[in-house]
Amino acid sequence: MNNSITNVINKKPDNDAEELQIIRQCTGIAKELVADRSKAAGRALTYHVTTFGCQMNARDSEKLAGILEECGYIREEDELDADIVIYNTCTVRDNANQKFFGHLGSIGAIKKKRPDMIIGVCGCLAQEESAREKILSSFSFVDLVFGTHNVFDFARLLVRVLTRDVTKGKGSTVTDIWDDTDLIVEDIPVKRNFKYRSGVNIMFGCNNFCSYCIVPYVRGRERSRKSADIIDEIKRLSADGVKEIMLLGQNVNSYGRGLEEKISFAQLLKKVEEIDGIERIRFMTSHPKDLSDELIDVMAASKKICRHIHLPLQSGSTRILKSMNRHYTKEQYVELASKIRERICDIAITTDIIIGYPGETDADIDDTIDVIEKVGFDGAFTFIYSKRTGTPAASMPDQVPENVVKRNFDRVLKKVQEMSMTQAMKNEGRIMDVLVEDVNRQDTSLLTGRLSNNMNVHFPGDPSLIGQIVDVKLDECKGFYYMGTLKEEK
Ligand code: 5AD
Ligand code: SF4
Repeated sequence: MNNSITNVINKKPDNDAEELQIIRQCTGIAKELVADRSKAAGRALTYHVTTFGCQMNARDSEKLAGILEECGYIREEDELDADIVIYNTCTVRDNANQKFFGHLGSIGAIKKKRPDMIIGVCGCLAQEESAREKILSSFSFVDLVFGTHNVFDFARLLVRVLTRDVTKGKGSTVTDIWDDTDLIVEDIPVKRNFKYRSGVNIMFGCNNFCSYCIVPYVRGRERSRKSADIIDEIKRLSADGVKEIMLLGQNVNSYGRGLEEKISFAQLLKKVEEIDGIERIRFMTSHPKDLSDELIDVMAASKKICRHIHLPLQSGSTRILKSMNRHYTKEQYVELASKIRERICDIAITTDIIIGYPGETDADIDDTIDVIEKVGFDGAFTFIYSKRTGTPAASMPDQVPENVVKRNFDRVLKKVQEMSMTQAMKNEGRIMDVLVEDVNRQDTSLLTGRLSNNMNVHFPGDPSLIGQIVDVKLDECKGFYYMGTLKEEK
């Protein structure tokens, strides 16, 4: 490898600006390397990014795709045909890990037939030490492994992969895992999945250490982006036709902590509201312990903030919540939800619930069911507790037997479905604002759109309406979605 390339890929940045400079140099080098390979192959080289997990990962994948396109790769829909495939992984529950390893095994057979194919694994699973060891020992055909803290550094990793010495065989996997980072690099190219909506990171990491959760260990400490950078990004998105944005963070309600400027999440929302062209604002995820009255006020007064809040409950039992390190009681949660419902009419409240946390009894499940009834959730994700090595809950006694968990899970799920159906029925027959997102995949005579409260509606219409906000009558509630008819264009 030539010396100047070695110097660039080994350079350690002291600050965000220096890192950006290194990234730009690496992008230039990667572009030349990709062009050379493309010339040799007699065709353009292709990429595919496969995303698992949450909206944060989806946004990171858009950044990876942006960098790959900047370096000269073009998008390939079929993962198996691409010249480079990046798996952006999730490790929040163990079944996700097992599924991913199964999938990776089958990719090994493809790689045998196409040895030039480059396979990369990044994201939360790669950041977790034991899972990473497994990739390196059992799936040695993987070419690149990196974590959650250096997505912005991907151009440099690409150069390393494209210039590495494959004759080293088993040890040739390029591995670059950072334990944490203070760097927040702006101006990374992004290839959005949707024209009219986009996620926007407002913060990274999580400081809460809920006792079951692996996220703080794989996503690092909480860091907020400067509000000016967030606003600039949203203005650019708006100029590019984006109408709906989703502000992303593990705990958006603590936005601003640690920044030099004094700013709360509610104040950030007010600034975002002023941006012309942005018609809908969503955010994810809110921790109940940090949700302020100021936020409720700003939401109630806003014309753009969607009538939806995702407010993870996890458990309705105060005893379990304490053990989970959630910092609120059953009563506080119910009171908060009722305050939100009183102040913001038509708001949908959705939640996450874990069933089978260590020590959970039937009485605890009764409490969870009681909260589901009292709050009347519009939707809930129910998860079976998954033991994550290294978290405090993993070593707690009284892990709940599988058959008990299954029984309790069914009880909770039944109640959740009952309540969300009751809530959804309330809007049947109403005319509501819908952002038209796409042509319906199953029936192409229909369009699919999203209500402010995050429910989907399918209705007959012309694809030219995609990206517009229209009035739709919700004719029939089908539980998780509605069938509707278009009323008029706005
Ligand atoms: N087991 C089951 N569910 C979990 N979650 C986080 N960690 C675990 C775990 N160990 C759920 C929580 C969180 C959602 C993103 O994933 O409900 O809100
Ligand atoms: Fe995990 Fe709790 Fe942080 Fe959410 S708030 S990512 S559940 S530690």
